[in-house]
Amino acid sequence: MKLLTVCIAFLSHLWYEPVAAEFDYIQRRVIPSRKGGWADAFHQAKTLVSRMSVEDKISLVTGVVFNRAGCVGNINAIDSIHFPGLCIQDGPLSLRNADLVSTFPAGVTTAATWDRALIYARGKALAAEFRGKGAHVLIGPVAGPLGRHPLGGRNWEGFSPDPYLTGVAASYSIRGIQDGGVQACIKHLIGYEQETQRSNTVSPNGTEVAGISSNIDDRTMHELYLWPFADAVRSGVASVMCSYNRVNETYSCENSKLLNGLLKTELGFQGYVVSDWFGTHSGVKSILSGLDMNMPGPLGSDSISQSNSYFGQNLTWAIANSSIPESRLDDMAHRILTPYLHLGQNKAFPAIDPSNLYVLLTDYGISPSAYGLPPAPPARDVRGDHKDLIRQIGAAGVVLLKNTHSTLPLKNPENIGLFGYDAADVSDGVAYQGTATSTPEFGFKMGTLSVGGGSGSARNTYVVSPLQAIRNRTNARLQYILNNEFILRGDFSSIFPEPDVCLVFLKTWSEESRDRVSFENDYNSTLVVEKVASFCSKTVVITHSSGVNTLPWAKNPNVTAILAAHYPGQESGNSIVDILFGDINPSGRLPYTIPIKEGDYGNLIVNISGSAAYDSSAWQSNFTEGLLIDYRHFDANSITPLYEFGFGLSYTTFELQKPINVKAISAIRQQFPNAASDTVPGGNPSLFTELFEVTTSVKNTGSVDGASVVQLYVSFNHKDMPANTPVKVLRGFEKINLQPQSEAFIKFSLTRRDLSFWNVTAQDWQLPLGIVNLLVGFSSRDIRQARSIRLF
Ligand SMILES: *[C@@H]1O[C@H](CO)[C@@H](O)[C@H](O)[C@H]1NC(C)=O
Ligand SMILES: *[C@@H]1O[C@H](CO)[C@@H](O)[C@H](O)[C@H]1NC(C)=O
Ligand SMILES: *[C@@H]1O[C@H](CO)[C@@H](O)[C@H](O)[C@H]1NC(C)=O
Ligand SMILES: *[C@@H]1O[C@H](CO)[C@@H](O)[C@H](O)[C@H]1NC(C)=O
Ligand SMILES: *[C@@H]1O[C@H](CO)[C@@H](O)[C@H](O)[C@H]1NC(C)=O
Ligand SMILES: *[C@@H]1O[C@H](CO)[C@@H](O)[C@H](O)[C@H]1NC(C)=O
Ligand SMILES: *[C@@H]1O[C@H](CO)[C@@H](O)[C@H](O)[C@H]1NC(C)=O
Ligand SMILES: *[C@@H]1O[C@H](CO)[C@@H](O)[C@H](O)[C@H]1NC(C)=O
Ligand SMILES: *[C@@H]1O[C@H](CO)[C@@H](O)[C@H](O)[C@H]1NC(C)=O
Ligand SMILES: *[C@@H]1O[C@H](CO)[C@@H](O)[C@H](O)[C@H]1NC(C)=O
Repeated sequence: MKLLTVCIAFLSHLWYEPVAAEFDYIQRRVIPSRKGGWADAFHQAKTLVSRMSVEDKISLVTGVVFNRAGCVGNINAIDSIHFPGLCIQDGPLSLRNADLVSTFPAGVTTAATWDRALIYARGKALAAEFRGKGAHVLIGPVAGPLGRHPLGGRNWEGFSPDPYLTGVAASYSIRGIQDGGVQACIKHLIGYEQETQRSNTVSPNGTEVAGISSNIDDRTMHELYLWPFADAVRSGVASVMCSYNRVNETYSCENSKLLNGLLKTELGFQGYVVSDWFGTHSGVKSILSGLDMNMPGPLGSDSISQSNSYFGQNLTWAIANSSIPESRLDDMAHRILTPYLHLGQNKAFPAIDPSNLYVLLTDYGISPSAYGLPPAPPARDVRGDHKDLIRQIGAAGVVLLKNTHSTLPLKNPENIGLFGYDAADVSDGVAYQGTATSTPEFGFKMGTLSVGGGSGSARNTYVVSPLQAIRNRTNARLQYILNNEFILRGDFSSIFPEPDVCLVFLKTWSEESRDRVSFENDYNSTLVVEKVASFCSKTVVITHSSGVNTLPWAKNPNVTAILAAHYPGQESGNSIVDILFGDINPSGRLPYTIPIKEGDYGNLIVNISGSAAYDSSAWQSNFTEGLLIDYRHFDANSITPLYEFGFGLSYTTFELQKPINVKAISAIRQQFPNAASDTVPGGNPSLFTELFEVTTSVKNTGSVDGASVVQLYVSFNHKDMPANTPVKVLRGFEKINLQPQSEAFIKFSLTRRDLSFWNVTAQDWQLPLGIVNLLVGFSSRDIRQARSIRLF
């Protein structure tokens, strides 16, 4: 979302009908909430709603931009029920529009840790900051985009193109956030895989051009894009944000099949659906299709001075003329109040920090004094000791890709060379990445890159650069050239004597509302590496990147080590120094695939140019590759990656010790699960029945402490499966810390869902007949043990 985005009211005569209207919302939706521990809260909500007037209920579901609360999303107080209103804030890695908050590592960095405990801890620490600032709702985590396109502008906000890994990461994030007393809002439902034409625009002659339509077949929806949302709902997520794009030609926020059908019926979601900011295109239609809350409220770009809305007064009229039954309005109110009450937000919740409003206005380029406000009150400092956790996750999310000639860890080097814009202190303001104003194509030039841009960004109170952190860590001679343009000249006469090691820092900017255009790192990265490597035989390249890059210099013999450090947040320099000097053994694993060359990836972003781009229905993206994205695409097409999904080196070595043992836990009597008569949050509960327990053991065979990530992949026998089934899919992982020569058991649990495919005819999950292969190893291409099991 982006508050000042130009957005045009969608004309009612252009409404698309839902592709499938078979879900009648009154009869089939799941009514909150007797399940998932929300029953008491639901009864309280019912009592409150029964005391509310129609106007009060409409106020509860309609956002207001300027109520002086200073949140990015605001619901007004309702005095009659002593409800203080809701404060909804961005975003997934920091409370964006606030002062004295922390900047955490991005989603992709967190996923690269493959560490459930750290993922949970990050969610809980974020929640402490949001609660401390009086924010009821944290807009995050992100499971869409999933990462269909390697250059998608917002992939880094989410976790991984693998739905299993993203599902686990989303689930542990939500538990952390909500155990911290804050509502999580998972986004964006669904198929929001590119920024280009993500929503509607206007052609030069003033006609409406609809946003991109993600045309996704039913099986791909279930097994890929919806999978992590099912985990989120199962984890009790309070809220789901619908996305800007269309799904099968109907906007997500008014797509009945998606919201009433998949989300509220099949997955049994009992919380509320909130629109992305300006993602609502209708009133009556959206509400009947399952939208429960409209944000930010007013329709247009100049939202601060407007009060018109698809909800608000229009909703009063729609109730009066019976186009929306009041029972549906009650349902919306129940859905919003239930998680609020369930998380105890009605009891002793901190008031909104009054300084927020000043920060928000500043971020929008509005002077608070011109707005008639008195001088800003001091901000409440909610950072606590979170910098230690941020530093730890930043280091755990570093993936060591190459390490020859024992280059790393550094052993008391006396002479270090340091190169590249990305090693420097930020030069255009520490809050630069947090502003809502448009940014240059590659962010700023000089300075380290700690997070990406847009609504998922952050307002840093400080950023530790690699230069600062290396100076802090060592008294070694430090010779540096930080200006990439100067490095390109190849004039290294200032460097003498030749450094023991040369550290080259590269970066890849990525932001909301713009897809990346290059696979390589920014600012002449390839030439920069080649120039440094031409005189330095121990060149270590570190990337601060949103995710997938090509690394054309990876095989250069003078490039002896490569580290993908992702977006680490405010402790960036300290996190990478911990790894470089061996204070922490690298344990990150790639949550995506690095190709040898960009053509190895399929699925280019849809980008129409010329007059065809102004046709109202031109923007269509057919997800014809189905399930075959990322490593599944490389496997299916026998393309060798440079560094595969799940890969990452360590300063120690690991071996699997015991052959895989498989134990049947529940008898399998039928291919289909029990009838879903008792849908719980997350869907049919029998999908989550454990069928098999898979065990093995892993040993640290090296000489230093380290953590291994043991991975379980399932490979189906293709003759028992529908066409285009992936060669293998991730279905388990365990991260384990081991001292040298010590060994530990690893246990994976396979559920019915893990072993099923979505049968589009039966409209249900189905176990295949015959043999299934279980593969255990250290990456998607480093399988050490295999075992077949027969399901029937
Ligand atoms: C989208 O269309 C495909 C093909 O008709 C269908 O299989 C799928 O269920 C539809 N999904 C939604 C959400 O409408
Ligand atoms: C009602 O909705 C329409 C769009 O359908 C909008 O143009 C109008 O401003 C809204 N009215 C109010 C009072 O918000
Ligand atoms: C009822 O009111 C809504 C909101 O103003 C409007 O969009 C809709 O067209 C009205 N329906 C009828 C049948 O008058
Ligand atoms: C310098 O290093 C020490 C020891 O690791 C650390 O506690 C401190 O935070 C570092 N200083 C900065 C500015 O990061
Ligand atoms: C889409 O095309 C336009 C030119 O028509 C170009 O400026 C833009 O960079 C392209 N976007 C992507 C993601 O390739
Ligand atoms: C460096 O990159 C810029 C921008 O992409 C480009 O214009 C310039 O030609 C490059 N310089 C060299 C020496 O390749
Ligand atoms: C590697 O570095 C040495 C200097 O240490 C240099 O002579 C050689 O040309 C470099 N090789 C490459 C491929 O750049
Ligand atoms: C506006 O432009 C679009 C796309 O070029 C075209 O399809 C449409 O007919 C035009 N409408 C008018 C009123 O000129
Ligand atoms: C997308 O699929 C539709 C329906 O099969 C087809 O008519 C259309 O040509 C496809 N679009 C593209 C760009 O392939
Ligand atoms: C899917 O289910 C239908 C019954 O609804 C069955 O006829 C069909 O064989 C199943 N597909 C597969 C691949 O087993």
